[in-house]
Amino acid sequence: MYLSRVEEAMYRGDYGGVVETAIKVIVKVGEALGAERLVEVSHVHVSGVSYWNIGDPGLEYIESLSSSGAWFRVYTSVNPVCIDLGGDNGLFGREYASGQKRIMEALERLGVDPVYTCIPYSFREPARHQHLAWGESNAVAVANSVYGARTNREGGPLTIAAAITGRTYYAGLHLMENRVVSTIVSISKDIVYNDLYASLIGLYIGEYVDGIPLIREGYRWSFYMVKEMLASSAASGSHSLVVLDGVTPRDTYLVGDRVDRVSIDKRSLDKFYEEVSSEPGVEGYTLAYIGCPHLDRRDLEYLVERVRRYKGLKRDVLFLVTIPYRYHGLVDGLVKTLESRGIHVAYGVCPIVSVLSRKPDKVLTNSGKALFYLKRLHGFNVALGSIDDIVREVMVE
Ligand code: F3S
Repeated sequence: MYLSRVEEAMYRGDYGGVVETAIKVIVKVGEALGAERLVEVSHVHVSGVSYWNIGDPGLEYIESLSSSGAWFRVYTSVNPVCIDLGGDNGLFGREYASGQKRIMEALERLGVDPVYTCIPYSFREPARHQHLAWGESNAVAVANSVYGARTNREGGPLTIAAAITGRTYYAGLHLMENRVVSTIVSISKDIVYNDLYASLIGLYIGEYVDGIPLIREGYRWSFYMVKEMLASSAASGSHSLVVLDGVTPRDTYLVGDRVDRVSIDKRSLDKFYEEVSSEPGVEGYTLAYIGCPHLDRRDLEYLVERVRRYKGLKRDVLFLVTIPYRYHGLVDGLVKTLESRGIHVAYGVCPIVSVLSRKPDKVLTNSGKALFYLKRLHGFNVALGSIDDIVREVMVE
Protein backbone atom coordinates (compact mmCIF):
# COMPACT_ATOMS: atom_id res chain seq x y z
CA MET A 1 0.00 0.00 0.00
CA TYR A 2 1.21 3.48 -0.83
CA LEU A 3 1.86 5.60 2.30
CA SER A 4 2.67 9.31 2.40
CA ARG A 5 5.84 10.48 4.19
CA VAL A 6 3.91 11.26 7.37
CA GLU A 7 2.07 7.93 7.25
CA GLU A 8 5.33 6.09 6.74
CA ALA A 9 6.77 7.81 9.80
CA MET A 10 3.70 6.79 11.80
CA TYR A 11 4.10 3.22 10.52
CA ARG A 12 7.81 3.18 11.52
CA GLY A 13 6.96 4.25 15.06
CA ASP A 14 8.31 7.82 14.88
CA TYR A 15 5.04 9.07 16.42
CA GLY A 16 5.09 6.52 19.25
CA GLY A 17 3.85 3.00 19.75
CA VAL A 18 0.14 3.81 19.97
CA VAL A 19 0.10 5.67 16.65
CA GLU A 20 2.19 2.89 15.09
CA THR A 21 -0.29 0.20 16.19
CA ALA A 22 -3.27 2.30 15.10
CA ILE A 23 -1.96 2.91 11.58
CA LYS A 24 -0.92 -0.72 11.23
CA VAL A 25 -4.48 -1.81 12.06
CA ILE A 26 -5.90 0.57 9.44
CA VAL A 27 -3.39 -0.59 6.82
CA LYS A 28 -4.18 -4.25 7.55
CA VAL A 29 -7.93 -3.72 7.21
CA GLY A 30 -7.38 -1.58 4.11
CA GLU A 31 -5.21 -4.24 2.47
CA ALA A 32 -7.86 -6.86 3.13
CA LEU A 33 -10.37 -4.60 1.36
CA GLY A 34 -8.07 -3.86 -1.59
CA ALA A 35 -7.24 -0.24 -0.63
CA GLU A 36 -4.21 1.19 -2.44
CA ARG A 37 -3.70 4.07 -0.05
CA LEU A 38 -5.05 5.82 3.04
CA VAL A 39 -7.10 8.99 3.11
CA GLU A 40 -7.15 11.85 5.62
CA VAL A 41 -10.44 12.25 7.46
CA SER A 42 -11.84 15.48 8.87
CA HIS A 43 -14.24 14.06 11.43
CA VAL A 44 -14.28 10.75 13.31
CA HIS A 45 -17.36 9.55 15.17
CA VAL A 46 -16.59 6.89 17.75
CA SER A 47 -19.24 4.27 18.46
CA GLY A 48 -19.20 1.21 20.72
CA VAL A 49 -18.53 3.06 23.99
CA SER A 50 -21.32 1.66 26.15
CA TYR A 51 -19.89 -0.10 29.19
CA TRP A 52 -22.85 -2.50 29.04
CA ASN A 53 -21.59 -3.48 25.59
CA ILE A 54 -17.81 -3.47 25.83
CA GLY A 55 -17.38 -4.26 29.54
CA ASP A 56 -14.02 -4.34 31.30
CA PRO A 57 -11.92 -5.35 28.25
CA GLY A 58 -13.16 -2.27 26.35
CA LEU A 59 -12.75 -0.04 29.38
CA GLU A 60 -9.17 -1.22 29.96
CA TYR A 61 -8.27 -0.74 26.29
CA ILE A 62 -9.55 2.86 26.21
CA GLU A 63 -7.92 3.67 29.57
CA SER A 64 -4.63 2.21 28.40
CA LEU A 65 -4.72 4.48 25.33
CA SER A 66 -5.44 7.59 27.36
CA SER A 67 -2.72 6.84 29.93
CA SER A 68 -0.18 6.23 27.15
CA GLY A 69 -0.29 9.91 26.19
CA ALA A 70 -2.11 9.25 22.90
CA TRP A 71 -4.54 11.91 21.62
CA PHE A 72 -7.09 12.32 18.87
CA ARG A 73 -5.61 14.18 15.88
CA VAL A 74 -8.91 15.19 14.26
CA TYR A 75 -12.28 16.41 15.47
CA THR A 76 -13.90 13.38 17.13
CA SER A 77 -17.46 13.06 18.41
CA VAL A 78 -18.87 10.14 20.36
CA ASN A 79 -21.97 7.96 20.53
CA PRO A 80 -24.42 7.67 23.46
CA VAL A 81 -23.63 5.60 26.54
CA CYS A 82 -25.57 3.31 28.89
CA ILE A 83 -26.46 5.80 31.65
CA ASP A 84 -28.62 8.92 31.69
CA LEU A 85 -26.15 11.81 31.72
CA GLY A 86 -28.90 14.14 32.89
CA GLY A 87 -28.67 12.53 36.32
CA ASP A 88 -29.28 9.25 38.09
CA ASN A 89 -33.01 8.55 38.20
CA GLY A 90 -32.94 4.79 38.65
CA LEU A 91 -34.22 4.08 35.12
CA PHE A 92 -30.98 2.50 33.90
CA GLY A 93 -28.90 -0.20 35.59
CA ARG A 94 -26.79 1.55 38.26
CA GLU A 95 -24.22 -1.23 38.26
CA TYR A 96 -22.85 0.12 34.95
CA ALA A 97 -22.41 3.72 36.08
CA SER A 98 -18.87 3.67 37.45
CA GLY A 99 -17.42 1.71 34.49
CA GLN A 100 -19.25 4.01 32.07
CA LYS A 101 -17.91 7.12 33.75
CA ARG A 102 -14.34 5.78 33.56
CA ILE A 103 -14.75 5.17 29.81
CA MET A 104 -16.06 8.71 29.34
CA GLU A 105 -13.21 10.24 31.33
CA ALA A 106 -10.64 8.30 29.30
CA LEU A 107 -12.26 9.31 26.00
CA GLU A 108 -12.38 12.95 27.06
CA ARG A 109 -8.67 12.81 28.02
CA LEU A 110 -8.00 11.57 24.48
CA GLY A 111 -9.78 14.64 23.17
CA VAL A 112 -13.30 13.53 22.25
CA ASP A 113 -16.01 16.20 21.98
CA PRO A 114 -18.48 15.00 24.65
CA VAL A 115 -21.65 15.29 22.56
CA TYR A 116 -22.72 11.72 23.49
CA THR A 117 -25.17 11.34 20.65
CA CYS A 118 -25.88 9.28 17.56
CA ILE A 119 -26.74 12.38 15.49
CA PRO A 120 -23.27 13.99 15.17
CA TYR A 121 -24.41 15.60 11.90
CA SER A 122 -26.63 17.92 13.95
CA PHE A 123 -23.57 19.48 15.57
CA ARG A 124 -21.07 19.42 12.74
CA GLU A 125 -22.64 19.01 9.31
CA PRO A 126 -20.49 17.01 6.91
CA ALA A 127 -19.67 18.58 3.56
CA ARG A 128 -20.17 16.99 0.15
CA HIS A 129 -17.34 14.56 -0.73
CA GLN A 130 -15.75 15.06 2.69
CA HIS A 131 -13.99 11.93 3.94
CA LEU A 132 -15.09 10.77 7.41
CA ALA A 133 -14.53 7.72 9.60
CA TRP A 134 -17.81 7.24 11.41
CA GLY A 135 -19.17 4.43 13.48
CA GLU A 136 -22.92 4.33 14.24
CA SER A 137 -24.94 3.02 11.34
CA ASN A 138 -27.66 5.68 11.25
CA ALA A 139 -25.10 8.50 11.26
CA VAL A 140 -23.11 6.85 8.48
CA ALA A 141 -26.25 6.48 6.35
CA VAL A 142 -27.23 10.13 6.91
CA ALA A 143 -23.70 11.37 6.14
CA ASN A 144 -23.57 9.49 2.83
CA SER A 145 -27.21 9.76 1.76
CA VAL A 146 -28.18 13.28 2.85
CA TYR A 147 -24.92 15.21 2.87
CA GLY A 148 -23.05 13.32 0.14
CA ALA A 149 -20.05 12.83 2.43
CA ARG A 150 -17.98 9.65 2.19
CA THR A 151 -17.71 7.18 5.01
CA ASN A 152 -17.83 3.46 5.53
CA ARG A 153 -19.54 2.00 8.57
CA GLU A 154 -16.62 1.51 10.92
CA GLY A 155 -16.47 -0.53 14.09
CA GLY A 156 -15.54 1.09 17.42
CA PRO A 157 -11.82 0.09 17.48
CA LEU A 158 -11.27 1.27 13.91
CA THR A 159 -12.82 4.66 14.64
CA ILE A 160 -10.41 5.06 17.56
CA ALA A 161 -7.48 4.14 15.29
CA ALA A 162 -8.74 6.72 12.76
CA ALA A 163 -8.99 9.39 15.47
CA ILE A 164 -5.42 8.67 16.64
CA THR A 165 -3.95 8.82 13.11
CA GLY A 166 -6.40 11.13 11.30
CA ARG A 167 -6.57 8.51 8.53
CA THR A 168 -8.67 5.66 7.25
CA TYR A 169 -8.30 3.22 4.34
CA TYR A 170 -9.32 4.49 0.90
CA ALA A 171 -11.85 1.85 -0.08
CA GLY A 172 -15.58 1.12 -0.01
CA LEU A 173 -17.79 4.22 -0.05
CA HIS A 174 -14.78 6.56 -0.11
CA LEU A 175 -14.51 5.70 -3.82
CA MET A 176 -17.07 6.94 -6.36
CA GLU A 177 -16.83 3.63 -8.21
CA ASN A 178 -18.44 1.95 -5.17
CA ARG A 179 -21.28 4.44 -4.85
CA VAL A 180 -23.28 2.92 -7.66
CA VAL A 181 -27.04 2.48 -7.47
CA SER A 182 -28.12 -1.08 -8.22
CA THR A 183 -31.87 -0.96 -7.46
CA ILE A 184 -34.48 1.69 -8.18
CA VAL A 185 -37.28 1.73 -5.61
CA SER A 186 -40.61 3.34 -6.48
CA ILE A 187 -42.98 4.20 -3.67
CA SER A 188 -46.67 4.38 -4.50
CA LYS A 189 -48.62 7.52 -3.71
CA ASP A 190 -51.03 5.81 -1.29
CA ILE A 191 -48.35 5.43 1.40
CA VAL A 192 -49.00 7.59 4.44
CA TYR A 193 -46.60 10.46 4.92
CA ASN A 194 -45.46 9.95 8.52
CA ASP A 195 -42.70 8.60 10.73
CA LEU A 196 -44.32 5.16 11.05
CA TYR A 197 -44.25 4.57 7.29
CA ALA A 198 -40.76 6.06 7.03
CA SER A 199 -39.56 3.42 9.52
CA LEU A 200 -41.46 0.69 7.70
CA ILE A 201 -40.00 1.68 4.33
CA GLY A 202 -36.53 1.55 5.88
CA LEU A 203 -37.04 -1.86 7.48
CA TYR A 204 -38.54 -3.19 4.24
CA ILE A 205 -35.69 -1.94 2.07
CA GLY A 206 -33.18 -3.33 4.56
CA GLU A 207 -34.87 -6.70 4.41
CA TYR A 208 -35.52 -7.01 0.67
CA VAL A 209 -33.11 -4.77 -1.26
CA ASP A 210 -29.42 -5.60 -1.70
CA GLY A 211 -26.72 -3.21 -2.86
CA ILE A 212 -27.35 0.53 -3.08
CA PRO A 213 -31.00 1.53 -3.58
CA LEU A 214 -32.27 4.75 -5.11
CA ILE A 215 -35.68 5.87 -3.88
CA ARG A 216 -37.50 7.68 -6.63
CA GLU A 217 -38.79 11.20 -6.16
CA GLY A 218 -42.47 11.30 -5.30
CA TYR A 219 -42.46 10.56 -1.61
CA ARG A 220 -42.21 13.77 0.43
CA TRP A 221 -39.50 13.36 3.03
CA SER A 222 -39.04 15.54 6.10
CA PHE A 223 -35.57 15.41 7.62
CA TYR A 224 -36.98 13.53 10.61
CA MET A 225 -38.54 10.90 8.36
CA VAL A 226 -35.28 10.53 6.45
CA LYS A 227 -33.49 9.93 9.77
CA GLU A 228 -35.97 7.23 10.80
CA MET A 229 -35.97 5.55 7.39
CA LEU A 230 -32.18 5.45 7.09
CA ALA A 231 -31.71 4.24 10.67
CA SER A 232 -34.18 1.42 10.01
CA SER A 233 -32.66 0.30 6.70
CA ALA A 234 -29.16 0.44 8.21
CA ALA A 235 -30.38 -1.79 11.06
CA SER A 236 -32.27 -4.43 9.09
CA GLY A 237 -30.04 -4.41 6.01
CA SER A 238 -26.72 -2.69 6.79
CA HIS A 239 -27.34 -0.03 4.15
CA SER A 240 -24.78 2.76 4.47
CA LEU A 241 -25.98 4.66 1.40
CA VAL A 242 -29.58 4.97 0.24
CA VAL A 243 -29.88 7.48 -2.56
CA LEU A 244 -32.92 9.72 -2.18
CA ASP A 245 -33.85 11.32 -5.46
CA GLY A 246 -34.02 15.07 -4.83
CA VAL A 247 -32.12 14.85 -1.51
CA THR A 248 -28.77 13.13 -2.11
CA PRO A 249 -26.37 15.48 -3.95
CA ARG A 250 -26.37 14.33 -7.59
CA ASP A 251 -22.60 14.24 -8.02
CA THR A 252 -22.04 11.91 -5.05
CA TYR A 253 -23.36 8.71 -6.62
CA LEU A 254 -23.57 6.91 -9.96
CA VAL A 255 -26.35 4.81 -11.45
CA GLY A 256 -25.37 1.39 -12.84
CA ASP A 257 -26.11 0.41 -16.45
CA ARG A 258 -28.32 -2.40 -15.28
CA VAL A 259 -30.56 -1.82 -12.30
CA ASP A 260 -33.23 -3.89 -10.60
CA ARG A 261 -36.61 -2.32 -9.94
CA VAL A 262 -38.74 -2.67 -6.82
CA SER A 263 -42.14 -1.10 -6.10
CA ILE A 264 -43.49 -0.61 -2.61
CA ASP A 265 -47.18 0.08 -2.06
CA LYS A 266 -49.27 0.54 1.06
CA ARG A 267 -50.66 -2.99 0.94
CA SER A 268 -47.21 -4.59 0.98
CA LEU A 269 -46.09 -2.31 3.84
CA ASP A 270 -49.23 -2.99 5.88
CA LYS A 271 -48.65 -6.73 5.47
CA PHE A 272 -45.00 -6.28 6.42
CA TYR A 273 -46.10 -4.31 9.50
CA GLU A 274 -48.01 -7.36 10.75
CA GLU A 275 -44.86 -9.48 10.37
CA VAL A 276 -42.51 -7.16 12.26
CA SER A 277 -44.67 -5.39 14.84
CA SER A 278 -46.68 -6.51 17.83
CA GLU A 279 -50.25 -5.28 18.24
CA PRO A 280 -50.30 -1.59 19.14
CA GLY A 281 -51.66 -0.63 22.56
CA VAL A 282 -50.69 -0.37 26.21
CA GLU A 283 -50.09 -3.72 27.95
CA GLY A 284 -48.98 -4.07 31.57
CA TYR A 285 -45.94 -1.91 32.31
CA THR A 286 -45.50 -0.09 28.99
CA LEU A 287 -42.49 1.83 27.72
CA ALA A 288 -43.25 4.49 25.10
CA TYR A 289 -39.91 5.33 23.50
CA ILE A 290 -39.12 8.19 21.11
CA GLY A 291 -35.57 9.24 20.29
CA CYS A 292 -33.84 6.52 18.28
CA PRO A 293 -31.95 8.20 16.63
CA HIS A 294 -31.76 11.00 19.20
CA LEU A 295 -34.16 13.89 18.69
CA ASP A 296 -32.67 17.18 17.61
CA ARG A 297 -34.10 20.52 18.72
CA ARG A 298 -36.69 20.65 15.89
CA ASP A 299 -37.86 17.10 16.63
CA LEU A 300 -38.18 18.00 20.29
CA GLU A 301 -40.28 21.07 19.41
CA TYR A 302 -42.50 18.87 17.23
CA LEU A 303 -43.02 16.42 20.10
CA VAL A 304 -43.81 19.24 22.53
CA GLU A 305 -46.54 20.45 20.16
CA ARG A 306 -48.03 16.94 19.98
CA VAL A 307 -48.25 16.51 23.77
CA ARG A 308 -49.31 20.04 24.72
CA ARG A 309 -53.03 19.31 24.97
CA TYR A 310 -52.55 16.23 27.18
CA LYS A 311 -52.42 16.31 30.98
CA GLY A 312 -50.32 13.29 31.76
CA LEU A 313 -49.70 9.58 31.25
CA LYS A 314 -51.87 6.53 31.71
CA ARG A 315 -51.05 4.35 34.72
CA ASP A 316 -47.96 2.14 34.51
CA VAL A 317 -46.52 3.92 31.48
CA LEU A 318 -42.94 5.15 31.21
CA PHE A 319 -42.62 7.65 28.37
CA LEU A 320 -38.92 8.00 27.58
CA VAL A 321 -37.35 10.46 25.15
CA THR A 322 -33.61 10.45 24.38
CA ILE A 323 -31.64 13.49 23.23
CA PRO A 324 -27.94 14.42 22.87
CA TYR A 325 -25.97 15.23 26.01
CA ARG A 326 -24.79 18.37 24.17
CA TYR A 327 -28.32 19.79 24.76
CA HIS A 328 -27.97 19.59 28.53
CA GLY A 329 -29.00 23.00 29.88
CA LEU A 330 -29.84 24.30 26.39
CA VAL A 331 -33.41 23.06 25.87
CA ASP A 332 -34.76 23.37 29.41
CA GLY A 333 -38.04 25.03 28.36
CA LEU A 334 -38.94 22.18 26.01
CA VAL A 335 -37.85 19.56 28.54
CA LYS A 336 -39.93 21.19 31.29
CA THR A 337 -43.08 21.05 29.15
CA LEU A 338 -42.52 17.33 28.54
CA GLU A 339 -41.70 16.66 32.20
CA SER A 340 -44.84 18.47 33.32
CA ARG A 341 -46.76 15.75 31.45
CA GLY A 342 -44.79 12.97 33.15
CA ILE A 343 -42.47 12.35 30.19
CA HIS A 344 -38.86 11.56 31.05
CA VAL A 345 -36.16 13.16 28.90
CA ALA A 346 -32.81 11.36 29.13
CA TYR A 347 -29.52 12.85 27.91
CA GLY A 348 -26.72 11.06 26.07
CA VAL A 349 -28.08 7.56 26.58
CA CYS A 350 -29.09 4.79 24.20
CA PRO A 351 -31.64 2.37 25.70
CA ILE A 352 -30.64 -0.28 23.16
CA VAL A 353 -27.11 -0.55 24.60
CA SER A 354 -28.29 -0.18 28.22
CA VAL A 355 -30.25 -2.16 30.74
CA LEU A 356 -33.54 -0.76 31.94
CA SER A 357 -34.01 -1.27 35.68
CA ARG A 358 -37.54 -2.51 35.11
CA LYS A 359 -38.29 -4.72 32.12
CA PRO A 360 -41.36 -3.47 30.20
CA ASP A 361 -44.16 -5.85 29.22
CA LYS A 362 -44.60 -3.82 26.07
CA VAL A 363 -42.66 -1.20 24.13
CA LEU A 364 -44.25 1.32 21.77
CA THR A 365 -41.85 3.16 19.49
CA ASN A 366 -41.84 5.03 16.20
CA SER A 367 -38.32 3.82 15.41
CA GLY A 368 -37.80 0.84 13.14
CA LYS A 369 -34.22 0.63 14.40
CA ALA A 370 -35.32 0.50 18.06
CA LEU A 371 -37.90 -2.15 17.20
CA PHE A 372 -35.28 -4.23 15.39
CA TYR A 373 -32.75 -4.20 18.23
CA LEU A 374 -35.07 -4.19 21.25
CA LYS A 375 -36.61 -7.40 19.92
CA ARG A 376 -33.30 -9.05 18.98
CA LEU A 377 -31.01 -7.90 21.78
CA HIS A 378 -33.45 -7.65 24.67
CA GLY A 379 -36.31 -9.93 23.62
CA PHE A 380 -38.91 -7.18 24.23
CA ASN A 381 -42.45 -7.20 22.92
CA VAL A 382 -42.36 -4.15 20.59
CA ALA A 383 -45.05 -2.38 18.58
CA LEU A 384 -44.36 0.26 15.97
CA GLY A 385 -46.50 3.40 15.71
CA SER A 386 -46.19 7.03 14.68
CA ILE A 387 -45.47 9.68 17.31
CA ASP A 388 -49.13 10.70 17.04
CA ASP A 389 -50.32 7.10 17.57
CA ILE A 390 -48.08 6.66 20.61
CA VAL A 391 -49.03 9.95 22.25
CA ARG A 392 -52.73 9.12 21.77
CA GLU A 393 -52.19 5.64 23.14
CA VAL A 394 -50.31 6.44 26.36
CA MET A 395 -51.45 9.93 27.38
CA VAL A 396 -54.62 11.26 29.04
CA GLU A 397 -56.36 14.54 28.22
FE1 F3S B 1 -29.00 6.10 18.64
FE2 F3S B 1 -29.07 3.99 20.13
FE3 F3S B 1 -30.86 4.34 18.29
S1 F3S B 1 -27.27 4.92 19.32
S2 F3S B 1 -29.74 5.36 16.68
S3 F3S B 1 -30.59 5.62 20.12
S4 F3S B 1 -29.85 2.41 18.76
